[in-house]
Amino acid sequence: MILLAIESSCDETSAAVMVNGELKSNIISTQLIHTQWGGVVPELASREHQKAIIPVVEEALQKANISKNQLNAIAFTRGPGLLGALLVGTSFAKSLALSLNIPLVEVNHMQAHVLAHFIDEPKPIFPFLCLTVSGGHTQLVWVKGPTEMEIIGETLDDAVGEAFDKTAKLIGLHYPGGPLIDKLAKEGDPLKFKFPMGEIPGLNYSFSGIKTAILYFLQKEIQKNPNFVEESKADICASVQYTLIEILLKKVKRAMREKNCTQIAIAGGVSANSGLRKRLQDLGEKEKWNVFIPAFSYCTDNAGMIAMAGHFKAIQGEFCGQDVSPLARMEF
Ligand code: KG4
Ligand code: ZN
Repeated sequence: MILLAIESSCDETSAAVMVNGELKSNIISTQLIHTQWGGVVPELASREHQKAIIPVVEEALQKANISKNQLNAIAFTRGPGLLGALLVGTSFAKSLALSLNIPLVEVNHMQAHVLAHFIDEPKPIFPFLCLTVSGGHTQLVWVKGPTEMEIIGETLDDAVGEAFDKTAKLIGLHYPGGPLIDKLAKEGDPLKFKFPMGEIPGLNYSFSGIKTAILYFLQKEIQKNPNFVEESKADICASVQYTLIEILLKKVKRAMREKNCTQIAIAGGVSANSGLRKRLQDLGEKEKWNVFIPAFSYCTDNAGMIAMAGHFKAIQGEFCGQDVSPLARMEF
């Protein structure tokens, strides 16, 4: 099974080639144009995807040493994501599949984040729990099989990645702020400032309350000392990051107990956070869990994970027709 995979759901144009489940190339072109706007501008994202998609696909094929005519199928992200951005990848995948007369495999981006764990060793064994944390989603997923997943908890409002990015914006850091907070937090005191954790019942999350609490806290402190943010940047980052991780892990512990599970994985852009990686690792040691942490290159959006998800479907003959259209919102 020689598969080309395409990802274009947000601000990364990516293409990957997978041969019999083995990833041969994973080219990612990150759109830098959004930095100056403080967030992803959907229309600009679509235009950037259009510019990047052909060179990115060509590079992926070249690096894998595979020609178009050797491809058996094309996998692509159908959703969820920005509709205009998804349209570029979907239309490209459909046209190429049509011209090569090969089948298409539609992939759910959030399932692909989870399945990124099957690209390299060590791989989890089904069933396991996955905490998927990205710019648009925060989900506790009960993973029964490659296409059998159940969301047992999710955010009721903002995603945790948004909480990172919005906090970063408040203290003058550019988009995407998550990695910058992570870096600054390393030099700060995580217990210096206290933020409310909120009390959401069950396994769901909420991050809008903490976002407002951070805003009011900063306004109050700046009133007392106009240089507060500059003088306390590292401590603010460390304390915010600490609280966000605390919120995430509290529900992870609860879900692991409820499911009587001993395998936990993290996925999505925020799983690149060094604080989250370390604290989950420590918690796993204490609780005697098997902890699966993805390589950095598979945390944020990439077509390698789309290829992995596509591979699982393709070997089961789960193809889709040329009438498929992208979905901004897509259920499991
Ligand atoms: O999965 P992803 O690349 O795109 C979506 O599907 O949303 O996730 C992007 C999110 C952004 O909010 C970004 O700030 C966050 O992941 N992120 C991080 C880190 N690296 C990326 N957040 C915290 N710490 C990081 N090191
Ligand atoms: Zn993503």
